[in-house]
Amino acid sequence: MSSFYALVIGASSTIAQAAIQQFEKNQDCLGVFAISRSLPAEIGQENDQSRTNKVHRLVCDNVESSIADICQQLASYSVNITKVLICNGLLHNETMMPEKKLEDINAAQLEAVFHANTVVPMLWLSKLLPILKGKKATQVAVFSARVGSISDNQSGGWYSYRASKAALNMLVQNSAIEYARRAKNVQLIAFHPGTTDTPLSKPFQRGVPEGKLFTADFVASQLLNIMDSFEMTSVETNSIEIKGKAAFLDWNNQAIDW
Ligand SMILES: NC(=O)c1ccc[n+]([C@@H]2O[C@H](COP(=O)([O-])OP(=O)(O)OC[C@H]3O[C@@H](n4cnc5c(N)ncnc54)[C@H](OP(=O)(O)O)[C@@H]3O)[C@@H](O)[C@H]2O)c1
Repeated sequence: MSSFYALVIGASSTIAQAAIQQFEKNQDCLGVFAISRSLPAEIGQENDQSRTNKVHRLVCDNVESSIADICQQLASYSVNITKVLICNGLLHNETMMPEKKLEDINAAQLEAVFHANTVVPMLWLSKLLPILKGKKATQVAVFSARVGSISDNQSGGWYSYRASKAALNMLVQNSAIEYARRAKNVQLIAFHPGTTDTPLSKPFQRGVPEGKLFTADFVASQLLNIMDSFEMTSVETNSIEIKGKAAFLDWNNQAIDW
């Protein structure tokens, strides 16, 4: 594996934090840019000697101009960013829970969920293109969800979350076609982490079968292995043939039907 820099967007996500820690421990990883709407509370009080100073934290409110500023800043470092995780996602908050029936539909919830799950990741995909044009195999994992699969939808409900992830999947695949022309070495991955023990899944963990509630650490390591496997394939075949197809993959590297 050659040396690389990583970029983690939505860095407060529990899975993102686990990934950042794994990047920190990876000798090939020269640095991690961690972007979040706010700095973690423990910054400044952290005295864990095992942590490195590889992590560069940047605050971004995810509006277009701020994303453009951050991308300019990243470009000015002139480093090879070849692993990107876009982790943003919203399912519920203090004022909303996923819709169970049509009567629960309301514009505010649809807009808030689409904004966090679809608009924000897409703005990043759009603005990142110029800094992902390097010669090295690069993977961008955008956090989707199996419930965003239209063909796999058996049980309905969760209207805004499902639809926002389905729309995200379309945007990722659409971007893959253009990335293949303009930033040829980038593999886009719509990633389903599986049900993972984080605040996002907390209210819904009771029905999860035993052994199927994953730790963030496990999921992060699965994802980083999947990303590495794309890089290995390109080394083994001496070509980076992405051909404009995004991958929709679960935590076990299994393809999900769109
Ligand atoms: N946990 C699961 O079981 C599960 C299952 C399937 C898919 N996923 C997906 O995996 C991803 C990571 O989830 P997680 O479980 O690690 O969740 P989490 O710990 O609750 O993290 C939430 C993430 O969403 C971002 N976020 C929250 N509200 C936002 C808003 N209004 N606008 C923009 N960004 C917002 C946060 O970014 P900041 O750092 O900027 O605050 C953070 O990256 C999400 O996309 C989620 O949909 C999770």
